[in-house]
Formats: sequence, structure tokens, C-alpha cells
Amino acid sequence: MIDALNSDLEQDLFAGNAVTIRNANFMLRTAIYPGSFDPVTNGHLDIIERGFKLFDRIIVAILHNPAKKYLFSVDERMTLLRTSLKKFPDIEIEAFDGLLVDYAVQKNAQAILRGMRAVSDFEYEFQMALMNRRLNRNVQTVFLMTGLRWIFTSSSIIKEAACFGGNINGMVPSAVQQKLKEKFGR
Ligand code: PNS
Repeated sequence: MIDALNSDLEQDLFAGNAVTIRNANFMLRTAIYPGSFDPVTNGHLDIIERGFKLFDRIIVAILHNPAKKYLFSVDERMTLLRTSLKKFPDIEIEAFDGLLVDYAVQKNAQAILRGMRAVSDFEYEFQMALMNRRLNRNVQTVFLMTGLRWIFTSSSIIKEAACFGGNINGMVPSAVQQKLKEKFGR
């Protein structure tokens, strides 16, 4: 009986519905953390960790950025995310080929979570957030500042350093470091 009740509650919550317990309403605060993750870096992990302080449920979603040429396939990026995010047991990781706001609606998410590093991120992030809001007014974009130690790191700069044999120790999870070594042969 309790199990059936719990599973009904769970179904309601994951469907984005509010549930009432002792006159109090509860709703899962769900965020999509979208990106290319080519590959995932420690900066991404930092944002996820901060995100869990605000959201009950975070779905990491690999989406397509038409402006980018990828080093890793979607399958490779997914595997690296799964390995690197083991310390977040409840996290969900998916790939979606389409509009981010459509995906957010499909997953009953109220928010899109994005990390903000330096001022240089602002224009692109601002433009994307406003476009997403125009496409769907019910999905809010929430920006979190990365920790200072990740302010200059990005997947692109890490790939560039790795490609010339630079030391990227401590910037990416160990599985990613290994995979970059294999890709570049150095
Ligand atoms: O890590 P990135 O490359 O900065 O992430 C950008 C990404 C993948 C989140 C963005 O390009 C995206 O949302 N792509 C899906 C298509 C979409 O909805 N674009 C935004 C509105 S036009």
C-alpha cells in the first residue's frame, strides 16, 4: 500500500504535477543542463554541483550546436558524461536532437541551467536565453557563476591544449583526460 502510494506520488512529481501532503504543496524543481559537452570538463561538474543546491532534479542533455564541429560522437560524449557524473547518483543524462525549449517541455522542466564564466560568455548566453524565452515563455533560464578556478576553462581550450600535448591535469575528469590522450595520440 505504502509502495503503491509512493509510486503514485513519484509519478505525479515526475510528471511535473504538484502533490499535496498535509496541506502543503510540493513540486519537483527540474532543470535541464544543456550543452555540447565535447567533452565534459570539471567546470561543468562545478555547475551541476551548484545546480543541485537549487533544483531537485537535473537532466544533463547533449544537444546539437550547429555552430560547432565536434571531436567526440554523441555516444562518446554520453559515455564520458556517465563515467564522470557517477558522484551524482540521481542525475539523468540524455541526448536530444531538436529545440531545447521543446525538450524542456517534454521533460516537465521549469528551467534551463547554464554556467556563466567571464563577461565574454554574456552576449551569447543572453542572446540564447532571450531566444529561448521568445520560443517558450514558461521556461526560465537560470545562470550560475562557475567557481573562480574554472573561469578560464572551456572544452575548446582544453582540447586545444591536449591536441599539442599540453598538461590538462585537474581540468577534466580522469576518463576524459584518458580519452583525449587516445584521440590525439599524445
Ligand atoms: O555547450 P554549448 O555548445 O554552448 O551549448 C549550446 C546548446 C547545445 C545548448 C545550444 O546550441 C542549443 O540549445 N541547441 C539546441 C537548439 C536550440 O534550441 N537552440 C537555441 C535556440 S535557437
